[in-house]
Amino acid sequence: MLRSALLNVMIKAAQKASRALKRDFGELEHLQVSLKGPADFVTAADRRAEETLRAELAAARPGYSFLGEEGGRYEGTDKTHCWIVDPLDGTLNFLHGIPHFAISIALEREGAIVAGIVYNPVSDELFTAERGKGAFLNDRRLRVAGRKRLSESVVACALPHPSRGDVALARSEHAAVQERAAGLRRFGAAALDLAWVAAGRIDAYWERGLSPWDMAAGIALVREAGGFVTDLEGRDITLAAEGILAGNEAIHRDMLRTLRETHGVRDAASAVF
Ligand code: IPD
Ligand code: CA
Ligand code: CA
Repeated sequence: MLRSALLNVMIKAAQKASRALKRDFGELEHLQVSLKGPADFVTAADRRAEETLRAELAAARPGYSFLGEEGGRYEGTDKTHCWIVDPLDGTLNFLHGIPHFAISIALEREGAIVAGIVYNPVSDELFTAERGKGAFLNDRRLRVAGRKRLSESVVACALPHPSRGDVALARSEHAAVQERAAGLRRFGAAALDLAWVAAGRIDAYWERGLSPWDMAAGIALVREAGGFVTDLEGRDITLAAEGILAGNEAIHRDMLRTLRETHGVRDAASAVF
C-alpha cells in the first residue's frame, strides 16, 4: 500500500517505540513502576517509548513542536506544527498484562488535526488516517458501522476513578445507555476506543476528562471513516473539550439525546433532594 511521506514518518516512529514496549510487556514482572496518581500509573516503558517517539519524529521533521503525556510540551522553531503523542494509551491494561493498549500519534497543523495513527503492538493492528484521504486498518479502508438503532449497538464507555468526583454522573449515564443499547463495554484505552468506532467494531463511544493525547489521533480516524465526533453538547470537538462522543450519524444522535436526558433527570433529582 502506498502511503504518504508524513504517515510513513509516523509509522516508523511508532514501530520503533513499539519494539521496546512489546518486550517490556512480555517482561512485566521486571518493570519498574512508579505511582503518579490514583488512576495514573506511569511505567519505565512508557517514558522510554515517549523518548523514542520524540527523537524519531524530531529527526524526521526538525523544528516541529511536540506535546507528549509524559514530557509535556516542547516548543519547536516551527510553531505551526505540533506532534501530539500518547506513548502508551491503556497503561492499566498494560500493567495487568491485558494486551489492549496502543501508541497514539497525531499531527496538528495550524490548530487542525491533519493526521493520526493508533498502533496496538500486540495485535499488530495499525490504524491510520490523513485529512481528506480516508482511514485505514493496515491496508483496509475503514468505514464506521452502519447501524441505525441504539438498541442494536455496542457502545464503549469509561469508568472514572472514584477520586475524580463525577462518578454519580457516570453511573447515571451508564444506566441510561445500558437500558437502550445492545451492549456496553469498557475497554480501557481511549485511542483504541476511537479507532474501533472508525473500524465499525463499536457503534459509539463517550468519555469525559480526556487529554489531547488521548483523543487527537482517534478524532482523525473517526472523521476519516465517515463518523461524527463532538463534545458532549454536540459541538465540534476541540482538544480542550471536557468530553467526547463519537459514532455514526444516527447512533451519535441517539447517544446525544440519551446523555442529555440523563443529565436532565439527574439535575431534576438533585434539585428535589
Ligand atoms: C487512559 C485510557 C483510558 C481512559 C483514561 C485515559 P492512559 O489513558 O485511555 O481508557 O479512560 O481517561 O487517561 O493513562 O492509559 O494513557
Ligand atoms: Ca491515554
Ligand atoms: Ca498514556
